[in-house]
Amino acid sequence: MSAVIEIDGLRKTFRSLRRGERVALDGFDMVVEAGQVHGFLGPNGSGKTTTLRTLLGLVRPDGGRMSVLGRPAPHRLAEVVDRFGAIVESPQFFGNFTGRRTLRLLAVAGGLPPDRVEEVLVRVGLRDRGDDRVKGYSLGMKQRLAVASALLKRPELLILDEPANGLDPAGIREMRDLMRQLSAAGVTVLVSSHILAEIQQICDHVTIISRGRRVAAGPVGEVLAGFDRGEHRVRVADQDRAAEIIRAAGLPVESHPDHLVVADLADPAWLSQALGERGLWVRELTPLTPDLESVFLQLTGSETPRQVDDAGGSAEPAAEGDAA
Ligand SMILES: Nc1ncnc2c1ncn2[C@@H]1O[C@H](COP(=O)(O)OP(=O)(O)OP(=O)(O)O)[C@@H](O)[C@H]1O
Ligand SMILES: [Mg+2]
Repeated sequence: MSAVIEIDGLRKTFRSLRRGERVALDGFDMVVEAGQVHGFLGPNGSGKTTTLRTLLGLVRPDGGRMSVLGRPAPHRLAEVVDRFGAIVESPQFFGNFTGRRTLRLLAVAGGLPPDRVEEVLVRVGLRDRGDDRVKGYSLGMKQRLAVASALLKRPELLILDEPANGLDPAGIREMRDLMRQLSAAGVTVLVSSHILAEIQQICDHVTIISRGRRVAAGPVGEVLAGFDRGEHRVRVADQDRAAEIIRAAGLPVESHPDHLVVADLADPAWLSQALGERGLWVRELTPLTPDLESVFLQLTGSETPRQVDDAGGSAEPAAEGDAA
């Protein structure tokens, strides 16, 4: 297998006496190839964390096959554990230790040379704060310390579950820059998020999950292009007449207060000519490329994140018990 991560038909149903059955993964598939920054995108409760925890052997699946770096997961993960890092549960550090000391202890425990600690501190931008106690770190710094701990062993693959969660815009930007740098250094990154713009900014490939199933996957540009409806924004003085002309030509058109949106427009030159011939001069004609947000709404048909809830119970989140 050339893929770094392969997931095939993964199934997981959580069962509890109080809430009944909850299908978290319903035959989920994903392929992450070496060198990708792969976004794992889905709304709250769609099954991202369950997928990653299952991959790491923290949740026992009901069915499906998985592999990491060519080894069947989770039972042969130990063979490649030195080659990948994962931050799926938010790691707990001792607040009274400094960042540097924390990493040194982890390096010693992992049998790694102490100079790795300085390298990873530089890598995550914590070198100047390395001698501060962790309890004085911001959330973003704690997240970066977690990434640093995962980087100690020089992994070829890094798995991050919602690394931007809870961060302010500056922290999100730092995390994004860090992922770009890691990718440039040759690390394959799998990063989950429910923040669509984040994935769009960082990732080259994406797998979209909804209700425990893959609903789209591929290069971000291609996934978006598949949803390109040929929409264009048109500004013109006599908007109502322009809309009539466009509609008469058989193209769908929507009126907004100060512009029109025309769909299915294969040739923008046609539109400027058709309107120009009738004395309507186009002031703006802009292609509207779909973003993941609109793709996502089309795929899931829902604006608000929905809970996977086949048992028909309440939509409250389930307790994060250890289900393994
Ligand atoms: N330990 C558990 N016990 C029972 N149900 C669970 C457990 N863990 C997850 N679930 C349920 O499985 C479904 C998928 O949850 P999961 O945490 O994988 O979603 P997610 O995509 O990571 O969501 P978020 O974006 O909120 O992190 C949800 O319905 C959730 O309530
Ligand atoms: Mg999650």
